[in-house]
Amino acid sequence: MKKPPEEDSASPVSLRDKIVGLSESSGRKSYYPMLQQKIRELQNEIAERHRAEETLRTTLQRIERQQTVIAEISTHPAVFYGRLQEAAPMMTVRMTHALNVDRASLWVMRGDSLCCLDKFEVRNGVHTSGHCLECGSYASYFEAVKKGPVIADEARQDPRTRNFSAKYFDAGNIASMLDVPVLIDGELAAVICFEHAGEPRAWQPDELTFASRIADQVALILAGKRRRITEEQLQTAHSNLTRNLRFTEVLLDALPIPIFYKDSELHYLGCNQIFSDIMGVSSEELLGRSAADFWPDLAELYEKSDRDLLQENRKITYEATIRNKEGVLREVIFAKQIFFDELKNAEGIIGSFVDITERNLAAKETQRLRTLLANIIDSMPSMLIGVDADGRIAQWNQQAALVTGVNEHDAQGRLLGQVVPWLASEMTKVSQSIASKKPFFEGKLSRIEGGETLYEDVTIYPLITNGVEGAVIRIDDVTDKVRIEEVLIQSEKMLSVGGLAAGMAHEINNPLASIMGNAQVLETRLLTPLPQNEEAAREAGITLEALRDYLEKRGIPKMIHSLRSSGAQAAQIVSNMLSFSRKSEPMLVPEDITEILEKTLDLASTDYDLKKNYDFKKIRIVREYEAGLPKIHGSASKLQQVFLNLLRNGAEAMGEKTYPKGDGPSFILRAKRNAPWVRIELEDNGPGLEEPVRKRIFEPFFTTKSVGKGTGLGLSVSYFIITEEHAGIMSVQTAHAGWTRFVIDLPMALASK
Ligand SMILES: Nc1ncnc2c1ncn2[C@@H]1O[C@H](COP(=O)(O)OP(=O)(O)OP(=O)(O)O)[C@@H](O)[C@H]1O
Ligand SMILES: [Mg+2]
Repeated sequence: MKKPPEEDSASPVSLRDKIVGLSESSGRKSYYPMLQQKIRELQNEIAERHRAEETLRTTLQRIERQQTVIAEISTHPAVFYGRLQEAAPMMTVRMTHALNVDRASLWVMRGDSLCCLDKFEVRNGVHTSGHCLECGSYASYFEAVKKGPVIADEARQDPRTRNFSAKYFDAGNIASMLDVPVLIDGELAAVICFEHAGEPRAWQPDELTFASRIADQVALILAGKRRRITEEQLQTAHSNLTRNLRFTEVLLDALPIPIFYKDSELHYLGCNQIFSDIMGVSSEELLGRSAADFWPDLAELYEKSDRDLLQENRKITYEATIRNKEGVLREVIFAKQIFFDELKNAEGIIGSFVDITERNLAAKETQRLRTLLANIIDSMPSMLIGVDADGRIAQWNQQAALVTGVNEHDAQGRLLGQVVPWLASEMTKVSQSIASKKPFFEGKLSRIEGGETLYEDVTIYPLITNGVEGAVIRIDDVTDKVRIEEVLIQSEKMLSVGGLAAGMAHEINNPLASIMGNAQVLETRLLTPLPQNEEAAREAGITLEALRDYLEKRGIPKMIHSLRSSGAQAAQIVSNMLSFSRKSEPMLVPEDITEILEKTLDLASTDYDLKKNYDFKKIRIVREYEAGLPKIHGSASKLQQVFLNLLRNGAEAMGEKTYPKGDGPSFILRAKRNAPWVRIELEDNGPGLEEPVRKRIFEPFFTTKSVGKGTGLGLSVSYFIITEEHAGIMSVQTAHAGWTRFVIDLPMALASK
């Protein structure tokens, strides 16, 4: 609204005062020039006042325009709703109008750059936007504008604005700039920009005020936007929190593990569904109560661990018991952990437990079965060795340890061939057995240990456990079994062969007796000067002398002698053969076996046959007689015959062996208890027996000696004497090129009363 110009009541001298002053102070003569002077002054003053009034009016008009623009901007819907981007083109147009400038623009900070939201140019009515100024490139300008409005009447010279390129100034013919910062929390957020073209312009205070108010408006919009963002974030955070809380609740209930939580005073805060299901206490019932309220007998342990946890501040697990809703005690593992508030103070405890009752039972059962299995495996008389497909030992029983002398710990993981060298060759069979999934058996594998031949049955069972291939090798020592078998076969063979021989002997006996009898009669009738012979010669017309002469000449007496000695030899064989018939049951009496052995040794040293081939005295005799041996049940003469046979054979065998220097032939004679037997061993260190000899050694007529030297009856007769006549056992052991040992078990004599 235009106001009529008023008298300036504030001026010190009013116009009326000036005219009154003039009439009072002037004299009549000088009145006119003075009046003229006064009139001129008055005219000037009036002109001055007119000008002032004019200026005042334009100023008022400008301010009015500014006010209008501010009102327009602040009530614009885009501004009202804080949509600066949308409001910007409207604002720049109004701004040019308000300050009557060529260009107005609105810039906002984006990172380190100030970017133009909108620039309006009056000259061509064009809006532009998007251009950005990097703070670093216009340091002096940004430094200044951050501190307050940049009022550059002469922008090209102003140190704050002269950095802008000449091209920029020229393009818009820019002379003056007015830039007002928008500061939020002391930070530069935006800039309001006015550019005047043509002649430099002095910016008026009201214009600066206007620009500041626009800046305030922008600040309000931006701050509002920020607040809205914060509020939105808060809103989102809140709804996230609610969602998370609901999720956590459902999650806890979905978990199959019972979970509970307590505050730092050990009062329950809640639990999940499964906890309630197991313990029979709802989350609501738990709230605010303590363990002692529900499980008084167990609470002390629970709360002790809780207190430890709160003190030590780390996750703990421990085994304990719980009482479930049925009142049954169950073994469980507790896991507890502290949860904290935002200041990292312990707020409470979260706990869970897992029922391990079944697991413990299963573990105990597994352990029991394992021990049982180990005991079974260990109590087996067989070596049981588990190997993997590469032959590495996985299982090793006590018998295996006993036989090899390698304990389980040392055997584990090693190659079979390294630990049990004699089984190295079995690995190919292990592989075959695994490949074919068929067990493999090999009986009576022989090996020599300590000079003795041992026999083993080897069985390989392929194994596939959990996809891992391997095998169990079972080794049974069947040495004793093999020996017994051999003995059985032996005795059967001996019985049949012996029966045959005895039968033959019977058949030969009669003609032999006739041959021998007649040979003797021949000798008596031809060579003996008996009266009957002379009588018969006389009757025949010859003399006995002439007959003897003739016979001598023809070598008949020698023939008869040879006939008789050959007959005697045959008779001896036949008598030996007859001993197989068991016809003659000898009288068995209690005898001291060592006495019999000693007598036999005496006999051997004087034995003529033996002396012929070897000097028995050169043989070293070692006696290993157990003290206080019980008597045996036997016939001394028969046993002497056996031992003499053995000593003879031994001496003959040793006679054929060449001993290294310092060594010589020796016999070891052992007698020891082997209830219910007494065991006699006769061992020589001769050449030992080759396997074919060992197998047939007891057979009648089996000999390695040349014809006439041995009959092969010595051992067979001995065998019969022991096994048939004494009900004993006789066997042979040997190491080739080492020794031969005859083992005889004779029954102990029953204690005499
Ligand atoms: N101690 C020994 N060392 C080596 N070989 C032996 C031993 N004892 C027996 N033999 C072997 O056993 C064979 C049979 O022995 P056996 O006593 O039955 O008959 P022999 O000695 O050959 O004849 P005979 O005993 O009738 O004179 C012997 O020929 C010999 O080869
Ligand atoms: Mg012999």
